[in-house]
Amino acid sequence: MSKILVVGSLNLDYVIEVENMPKAGETIFGKSLKKIPGGKGANQAYSIGKLGGDVAMIGAVGDDDAGQILLNNLKSVNVDTSGIEIVNDNVTGQAYIYVDDNGQNCITVISGANAVVDRDMIDRNMELIDDAEYVVMQLEVPIDTVKYVKDIAISKGKKVIIDPAPAIKNPDTNLWRGCYIIKPNELELATLTGKKLNNIEEYKKAAIELQKTGADFVISTLGGDGAIAYDGENIKNFDCKKTTVVDTTAAGDTFTAGLVIGLNEGKSIEEAINFGQSAAAITVSRKGAQTSIPSRDEIQ
Ligand code: RIB
Repeated sequence: MSKILVVGSLNLDYVIEVENMPKAGETIFGKSLKKIPGGKGANQAYSIGKLGGDVAMIGAVGDDDAGQILLNNLKSVNVDTSGIEIVNDNVTGQAYIYVDDNGQNCITVISGANAVVDRDMIDRNMELIDDAEYVVMQLEVPIDTVKYVKDIAISKGKKVIIDPAPAIKNPDTNLWRGCYIIKPNELELATLTGKKLNNIEEYKKAAIELQKTGADFVISTLGGDGAIAYDGENIKNFDCKKTTVVDTTAAGDTFTAGLVIGLNEGKSIEEAINFGQSAAAITVSRKGAQTSIPSRDEIQ
């Protein structure tokens, strides 16, 4: 089994359960507040580790209790954390998450130490890129760093997978050129293509447009509408797995982890998507980010 490298964010999630999302100008009572290990990068690394993958992570935390909680959680599932630097004079990333009674969420991220993941940090950890076959990134660390890692990784023959979350408006489409997979969810697909997308046909057109920017595959998760995958020739639909939605936090991260680990184990794209969907279906049926991520036994 080859190695997988995740370059990305680590956040301590402050999760507030509410009956309904607050509206602008409204004051509401929350039902509970919990602190849970999260961050899109850390969730993906944790999930890959929990599924038995050989995974390392490059990222940064502050010199605080939150950073230690996040590092310990990753170590508990055998993630190589040697590339996660503890930075002074900064705090660990934080995410403030509302989850409503329908399991839907709204997330605000305070970047903290994630914002100092820069080219120098990548250079200091270059051997982790050299060792990996797959390099997985999201967009919660500076875009300049994502571009830098992508270019280096591709020049070294690595397969780069970008989960473009949170999505940016009018992205430099060179960012996607040469990527193996871009994996937006339906909202991110709309933001990245600058279009309002209302139905599966519109999602498909947007996926085709995005793939033309130079990635091998666009794989888009569409919530209750399942997923689509486009390889430049054919577009395929994948039905949604039936599940009870309790909290969608980290569903996309778990999907990406399942997809990568499936490919790393020699599964076809279709089989790997199916594996990612099964993993994510369990994640949405439980509360929290890393607290909801399943083991391989549970998926099987
Ligand atoms: O994808 C879910 C994650 O997004 C949360 O864990 C939160 O930290 C934000 O990064």
